[in-house]
Amino acid sequence: MKTITVRASNQYDVKIGAGLLHSAGETLLSLNRKPCSVCILSDDTVYPLYGDTVTASLERAGFTVSHYTIPHGEPSKCLSVYGAFLNTLAQNHFTRTDWLIALGGGVVGDLCGFAAATYLRGVKYMQLPTTLLAMVDSSVGGKTAVDLPAGKNLCGAFYPPHAVLCDTNALDTLTPEIFADGMAEVIKYAMIFDRTLFDTLMADGKRFNREDIIATCIDHKRHVVEEDEFDRGMRQLLNFGHTVAHGIEQHSGYTISHGHAVAAGMGVITRAAEKAGLTEELCSHALQKLLSAFDLPADSPYDASALTEAVLSDKKRDGRKINLVLCKKIGSSFLYPCPVEDCEAFFASGIQKKS
Ligand code: GLY
Repeated sequence: MKTITVRASNQYDVKIGAGLLHSAGETLLSLNRKPCSVCILSDDTVYPLYGDTVTASLERAGFTVSHYTIPHGEPSKCLSVYGAFLNTLAQNHFTRTDWLIALGGGVVGDLCGFAAATYLRGVKYMQLPTTLLAMVDSSVGGKTAVDLPAGKNLCGAFYPPHAVLCDTNALDTLTPEIFADGMAEVIKYAMIFDRTLFDTLMADGKRFNREDIIATCIDHKRHVVEEDEFDRGMRQLLNFGHTVAHGIEQHSGYTISHGHAVAAGMGVITRAAEKAGLTEELCSHALQKLLSAFDLPADSPYDASALTEAVLSDKKRDGRKINLVLCKKIGSSFLYPCPVEDCEAFFASGIQKKS
């Protein structure tokens, strides 16, 4: 088992290892000695798999446990599901000294975090991410949100969790597509920060050591969050591929998953930057090879005009400019302020297929 301590506006441990869902109760007891109620927020795919394990562990540790299950998938990350969850907590007289637990992937984690940030102006919560994407990215760093009809994550708060347990055994029940979604974020860390990680993934392919690779990614995230918790500078680097990805997701009506869209976005932006002489030659070729080794796309199914609408609601837009994340070379990234009116041509230069 590995432990990474994040020292941000609050300090918390992220543990990574096999079987950690069985120790959820023990972990909570180490943080909260008094008896209290705990509500597990999960979805209808994950709760049947792991709900009993987590509940039993919490009850063994003396906690009073309830759960609230939402339909799986991005549409649940919305104001109405959020409101219904808060209302249920209130009807059950959930107090400020009680805890929430997010058991699931990014949707459950983001929604639970936002509920924790806002219910009674803040209750404590623990993240139990069960997807690779949630382990390496969304469960760490305290970005919580729900989507609005106008776009993803447009309503949220920075509210760090009080503990994160990444049980690597949970990865065994993921579909290949959902596992690949997480790999897109792993490859993102390699591209923006870590040439060694890139080479390891290229050499090991799908046989990579999960605990090591997840810990490597979380340690990168720890560093970023400690430097720029509130996303004013360096943290924006974590959005490599995401501006194009948001356009792809939005244009597909969210039928293309976040990870697959991020993979395509990284491919498009790297080809475009390479053509503009901003990225070292052959990076896009190497990236495409690695993405394809993990069954991920490297191109947009839509043309550039379809992607640029999303730029306008991108949180990285600063007036008429948007900070695109580019790589100088593999393992080294920078922010590139691009006038909004130039984005379409820039994206177009990175798209190979035409819709
Ligand atoms: N998912 C990007 C971030 O946490 O900043």
